[in-house]
Amino acid sequence: MSEHFDVYGGARLVGEVEVVGAKNSVLKLMAAALLAEGTTTISNCPQILDVPLMADVLRSVGCEVEMNGDVTRITTPAELSHRADSPAMGKLRASVCVLGPLVGRLKRAVVALPGGDAIGSRPLDMHQNGLRKLGATSAIEHGCVVAEADGLHGAQIWLDFPSVGATENILMAAVLAEGTTVIDNAAREPEIIDLCTMLTEMGARIEGAGTSTLTVEGVDSLHPTEHRVIGDRIVGATWAFAASMTQGDVTVTGVDPHHLDLVLDKLRLAGADVTAYDGKGFRVVQDGRPKAVDFVTLPYPGFATDLQPFAVALSAVSDGTSMITENVYEARFRFIEEMVRLGADARTDGHHAVVRGVERLSSAPVWASDIRAGAGLVLAGLCAEGVTEVWDVFHIDRGYPAFVENLNRLGARVERVTAEPDRVVAE
Ligand code: EPU
Repeated sequence: MSEHFDVYGGARLVGEVEVVGAKNSVLKLMAAALLAEGTTTISNCPQILDVPLMADVLRSVGCEVEMNGDVTRITTPAELSHRADSPAMGKLRASVCVLGPLVGRLKRAVVALPGGDAIGSRPLDMHQNGLRKLGATSAIEHGCVVAEADGLHGAQIWLDFPSVGATENILMAAVLAEGTTVIDNAAREPEIIDLCTMLTEMGARIEGAGTSTLTVEGVDSLHPTEHRVIGDRIVGATWAFAASMTQGDVTVTGVDPHHLDLVLDKLRLAGADVTAYDGKGFRVVQDGRPKAVDFVTLPYPGFATDLQPFAVALSAVSDGTSMITENVYEARFRFIEEMVRLGADARTDGHHAVVRGVERLSSAPVWASDIRAGAGLVLAGLCAEGVTEVWDVFHIDRGYPAFVENLNRLGARVERVTAEPDRVVAE
């Protein structure tokens, strides 16, 4: 038996929805708690599957983790294990973010290779090269990253690409290294700023958060802190796209609209009336069918690859033809095959997709291949004639708290159903 969503087509989303803490921030902040002995408290945590999974990862190295509503308390002992190879490691990508803190604190780590979404190749070469520059050895052995150092020292590190995960791991090792580390071509995502903010609260010395050059002065030790996670811009943007696609009127709170400047501007180009409320949220009103716009994914402040499925889904029902270019994950266009099942007129060529908008999609059983693809199929289902079954919804549960409840509150009809799938997905 497995779960799917029945998504009833023809919805128009209207109302207000609150966004809570960002998945891609909270999981890294939880890893950062390893850097300080004592109890770190993180609030505004989203209630999604990945948070308890990350808690299991931390427990496996000796932490106590207590989750109570939106508050997670992590008690890190003086003596941590350097081995993070529990089964939870393989269930999410962010588990690899314990590597930097473990190497920083213990000067050695054995960290099982992470899991995560099937969205394309996700090597760790930049993580490893960064640690090597800091003075550690790093190799992949028996499915684990093995890193060891006599001591860590500051270094000048140039990243080939502004990788989010590599920036985070190198940063979390460098905060306890001796001397100054400069990370050039660092990722600039708001979640990186959030991590830098928390590390600074813990006593780290970091300059340049939010720019492509991070300068870290190593300190001897860090202390625990209390920190509130920033709102999830990807979830916020999901609601923005949902409003536009369903020609609705949705107010989104709990997310900084400046984290979505480019996204909201794209929706304005699509014909939406967008109002931003400084630091608080935004409202998207779409009157009439959206107009086709082009999208190009890039690291922040470019258009996030995590939003590419929504760009495709919006284009599928827009008036005109859109070109969507994927520059970060080559396999993310797999989502388009499922969109075609729903009647989308779309084709891909390398890392470009051309989508000719149609007036109405038509329902079909479809399969989520990752978190964002799953949510994208639900939004497409809202614009399809009939009832669309979206399968493998555990992907969606990894990233979207109370997704079905929120959709229904906004006027959609979406039901979570437990049943036997009647189609076997082709490999
Ligand atoms: N890359 C390398 N070598 C490395 C690291 C990355 O070649 O050592 C490449 C990747 O293959 C990819 C690109 O660099 O082509 C970007 O990867 P990045 O390291 O920035 O991504 P990540 O840290 O693994 C995070 C998010 C993803 C999001 C990407 C890009 C988390 C847990 N995941 O992954 O989020 O797509 O950044 O913004 O923070 C999601 O939430 O659904 C999701 C997949």
